[in-house]
Amino acid sequence: RIAFVNGRYVRHAEAAIHIEDRGYQFADGVYEVCEIWHGHLVDERRHLDRLERSLNELSIRMPMGRAALSQVLHEVVRRNKVRDGLVYMQVTRGVSRRDHVFPPATVQPALVVTARSSQPAAAAALAEKGVSVISVPENRWERVDIKTVGLLPNVLAKQKAKEAGAKEAWFVDRDGLVTEGGSTNAWIVTKDNCLVTRPAVSGILKGITRQVVLDMIERNGLTFEERAFSLEEAKQAKEAFMTAATTVVMPVVRIDGQSVGNGHPGELTRELRRMFHATAE
Ligand code: PDD
Repeated sequence: RIAFVNGRYVRHAEAAIHIEDRGYQFADGVYEVCEIWHGHLVDERRHLDRLERSLNELSIRMPMGRAALSQVLHEVVRRNKVRDGLVYMQVTRGVSRRDHVFPPATVQPALVVTARSSQPAAAAALAEKGVSVISVPENRWERVDIKTVGLLPNVLAKQKAKEAGAKEAWFVDRDGLVTEGGSTNAWIVTKDNCLVTRPAVSGILKGITRQVVLDMIERNGLTFEERAFSLEEAKQAKEAFMTAATTVVMPVVRIDGQSVGNGHPGELTRELRRMFHATAE
């Protein structure tokens, strides 16, 4: 495997970052995960837009121009011969003697790009059965709209889910409303077939997959509402699912051990999953 690290293509096993990289010391960096489907980077433009936004919010420079970065992404995918999988990019504020405040402007941001293949058959099998989620109290900072590598609450929540035999943890805020999953956006379908997901105003990362699914819903004239929903409403819902570049549309069939609908992936959920790659950019 090959990785791109600070301007060079290197063997993945030997790729290294300096011990004084601010990503390592302060989680002072951002990332993106983009799906590779049949050799194509799904929604690349939107992922690069969001990367730029995240960097802007933290006053970190783009490590290189957009066209050059795009070229690197494609080159890493090509060198790793990935047809279906994921490409990961991470930009940190760079290497400097440990000090909380920003380093001098001369310090270059650090860029890492990796790619790996996935097993589409395993994902399809998982989607056929659907997955379980557990709920956990929301304990993250207020800027979850920035895709930072500071993911400790997400790590702990997802580990807890795994130990409970679940695939994802849904964060629930103090008002009992679901914000999102540890690495996915959360959705439900009401009894009268209305698709519901939380507005990307506060409390969530504005998922690219979420936006693509919203566009798909609109184009197909399906009923939807961008509003917050409670954990209780989710448990009583007809269907539930989650979205992310890593899972696309993944049916949720159990929440805290309680079956959603009949305990099988819902019809609308399955339809959206089928449609996704037919319409993705
Ligand atoms: N996670 N919410 C959170 C907290 C996320 O980390 C992600 C993505 C999403 C979905 O965003 P998108 O549809 O753009 O992938 C929502 C990535 C895949 C990860 O951390 O692996």
